[in-house]
Amino acid sequence: MSTPEIAEIHDFIGIGLGPFNLGLACLTEPIDELNGLFLESKPGFEWHSGMFLEGAHLQTPFMSDLVTLADPTSPYSFLNYLKEKGRLYSFYIRENFYPLRAEYNDYCRWAADRVTSIRFSTTVSSVSYDEAGEVYVVATEAGETFLARRIVLGTGTPPYLPDSCRELGGDLIHNSRYVPNKEALQRKKSITIVGSGQSAAEIYYDLLSEIDVHGYQLNWVTRSPRFFPLEYTKLTLEMTSPEYVDYFHALPEETRYRLESQQKGLFKGI
Ligand SMILES: Cc1cc2nc3c(=O)[nH]c(=O)nc-3n(C[C@H](O)[C@H](O)[C@H](O)COP(=O)(O)OP(=O)(O)OC[C@H]3O[C@@H](n4cnc5c(N)ncnc54)[C@H](O)[C@@H]3O)c2cc1C
Ligand SMILES: NC(=O)c1ccc[n+]([C@@H]2O[C@H](COP(=O)([O-])OP(=O)(O)OC[C@H]3O[C@@H](n4cnc5c(N)ncnc54)[C@H](OP(=O)(O)O)[C@@H]3O)[C@@H](O)[C@H]2O)c1
Repeated sequence: MSTPEIAEIHDFIGIGLGPFNLGLACLTEPIDELNGLFLESKPGFEWHSGMFLEGAHLQTPFMSDLVTLADPTSPYSFLNYLKEKGRLYSFYIRENFYPLRAEYNDYCRWAADRVTSIRFSTTVSSVSYDEAGEVYVVATEAGETFLARRIVLGTGTPPYLPDSCRELGGDLIHNSRYVPNKEALQRKKSITIVGSGQSAAEIYYDLLSEIDVHGYQLNWVTRSPRFFPLEYTKLTLEMTSPEYVDYFHALPEETRYRLESQQKGLFKGI
C-alpha cells in the first residue's frame, strides 16, 4: 500500500517580494531552523522601475537597507553590496548617504540572488485557513498549493486610478508607467499632472527641466489646499524605532486607525 504524500508545511510563507519581504527573506536565510518560502508574481526583483528618473534617490539613508538596523552583522547589507561591487570607497567619498533609486534596485536584486527561499513568477490567487490542520493553504494561479503555519503579507500598494479616470482611455497614464511613456508624453501639446505626492513632484520637475526642448504646456493640479512637504523631523523619525512600533501595536485597533488617519504628513508629501 502506498503512503499518501505529506505536503511540506513551511514555518511561514511571505506573499509578495518588495523591499519589505525581501528584508525578512535576508534576515531569515541564515536561520537553519526556519523553513520559510517567498512567492512573488514578477519574474525577478523589480522596485517601481517605471519611476527610475535620472538622479532620483531614496528618501531614507543607506542604513535603512534590507537588514542593517535589525542585524548590522548581516552579509546582505548595502555596505557589503558596495564592497562586493568594488564601490565602497567611491560611495564613502561621495558623502551622500541617500542611494540612487536605480542603485537601490540593483542592491535588492543582488540580495535576492543570494536568497534560496524565493520563487518568482508565482502569483498567489487565494489563501485559506485549515482549522483542523492549523495551517494556511496558499494557492497559486498556476494551480500549485503550499502550506504554512504563518503568512506574511508583503503585497504593497498597487497603482491607484481614481474612479473618475478609470474609463478615460486615451493618453492617461499612472506614474508607475512614467519612464516608458515619457517620450510619447513629451510629444503632446499639453500635459497635466494630477496629485501632489512625491511621485507627482518628481515627474513635474523632470518634465519642467525639458520644457524648453519640447515646448509643451505643463499643468499641475491637486485637491490639497496647497503643496505639503513630507514631515521628516527627528521627532517623527523616533516613531520608526522598535520601541514606538511595539507601543503602537499594543494600542487598541480603533486607536491605531484613529492615529494613522492623522499621520498622512508622515508618508505623503514632497
Ligand atoms: C517611486 C517610489 C519611490 C519610493 N521610495 C521610497 C523611499 O525612498 N523610501 C521609502 O521608505 N519608501 C519609498 N517608497 C514607498 C514604497 O511603498 C516602499 O518603498 C516599498 O516599495 C514598499 O515595499 P513593499 O515590499 O511593502 O511593497 P512593494 O514594493 O509594492 O512590493 C509588493 C510586491 O508584491 C507582489 N505581489 C502583489 N500581489 C501578489 C500576489 N498575489 N502574489 C505574488 N506577489 C504579489 C508585487 O508584484 C510586488 O513585487 C517609494 C514608492 C514609490 C512608488
Ligand atoms: N524618490 C523617492 O524616494 C520617492 C518617489 C516617489 C514616491 N515616494 C514615496 O512613495 C509613497 C507614495 O507616494 P506617491 O506620490 O506615489 O503617492 P501619494 O503620496 O499617495 O500621493 C498621491 C496624490 O494623489 C492624490 N489623489 C489621490 N486620489 C485622488 C483623487 N481621486 N483626486 C485627486 N487627487 C487624488 C493625493 O491627494 P491627497 O493627498 O489629497 O490624498 C496625493 O496628492 C510616499 O511615501 C512617497 O514618499 C518616494
